[in-house]
Amino acid sequence: MKTKKYSAVITAVGMYVPDKVLDNAYFESTMDTTEEWITTRTGIKERRILENGATSDLATKATEDLLQQHNVNPEEIDVIIIATVTPDMLFPATACLVQERIGANNAWGFDLSAACSGFLFAYQTGCAFIESGQYKKVLVIGADKMSSILDYSDRNSCILFGDGAAAVLLEQSEDLNLGLQNSTLRIDGVGKDKLLMSGGGSLNPPTHETVDKKMHYLYQDGKAVFKVAVIGMADVSYELMQKNNLTSDDIAFLVPHQANKRIIDATGKRMGLDSDKVMMNIDKYGNTTAATIPLCLVEYYRDGRIKKGDKLILSAFGAGYTWGSSYLVWAI
Ligand code: COA
Repeated sequence: MKTKKYSAVITAVGMYVPDKVLDNAYFESTMDTTEEWITTRTGIKERRILENGATSDLATKATEDLLQQHNVNPEEIDVIIIATVTPDMLFPATACLVQERIGANNAWGFDLSAACSGFLFAYQTGCAFIESGQYKKVLVIGADKMSSILDYSDRNSCILFGDGAAAVLLEQSEDLNLGLQNSTLRIDGVGKDKLLMSGGGSLNPPTHETVDKKMHYLYQDGKAVFKVAVIGMADVSYELMQKNNLTSDDIAFLVPHQANKRIIDATGKRMGLDSDKVMMNIDKYGNTTAATIPLCLVEYYRDGRIKKGDKLILSAFGAGYTWGSSYLVWAI
């Protein structure tokens, strides 16, 4: 096996969530639900909504935050990868729109579609570009405007999601003990009918009928997804710990995709982690799809809760099905 020369480390972070808050009381006033049901079944208390604008606006603002906070010159960015299932348009890629807005004049890039596992898959892809030695600065963004594909009369789904974006910059390090150490990533099309937006692609191009049948909205069989997500996320995280000889004492934080507090709790429990070692902000933002994991990373980094050398396990499960787990050592 070829030994790698460089490790891919996160050297800068940024985030953006819109100002408008939709709390559970709003849903209680508009549909047959209660604040109590939403909080106890999901852990969500409120979520952010972008009223005007698109996913590229969320992604651009998160990236501007990263560039400003860490004094990064956008012209030095080699690659931009945006994980999203709510691109501004099917094409051009949202990466192109963000590239132009931030002035990353020497970059190439693309969008990556892996739903709630999007950030994890984009992070892995970006790390491979860095580890190969081919590129020095890769920007990985998780961004979704979930409110653009939600049916706000469907109480099963609309209460779960929110809008947001967060970004990380990957760079080379010669210290191979820092950065991404190991991952297990999986897909299985057996889940294709359980969580999807069936209209608008080449299978069901937009027609009056697809609109009437609400095929341009997200559909989820919540119970079915919940069952496999609990098992999938817990198993893959636990197996990654074992594969890397990590005990629960070694791990500083589990950084789980924020879909449902009960899924997060089950994963932490399987890994033997106390709740204070499990990152959580689902109460404030709900499920922002590709943005959940980097939003956690940015918030915990900025308030000083993660420090250099901390061992983190990122973990996600989403539509497809897609799922996986990555083990990394924090480098800043
Ligand atoms: N308010 C009140 N009742 C609601 C509701 C709401 N907002 N949404 C659904 N219900 C009802 C359903 O209609 C159903 O009623 P029925 O049994 O009469 O048909 C019942 O609540 C379902 O209850 P329960 O089985 O206890 O719900 P749940 O524990 O499965 O929770 C979800 C529902 C959606 C929160 C949960 O399944 C979930 O989180 N799923 C996975 C979400 C996810 O992870 N998605 C992203 C990809 S990872």
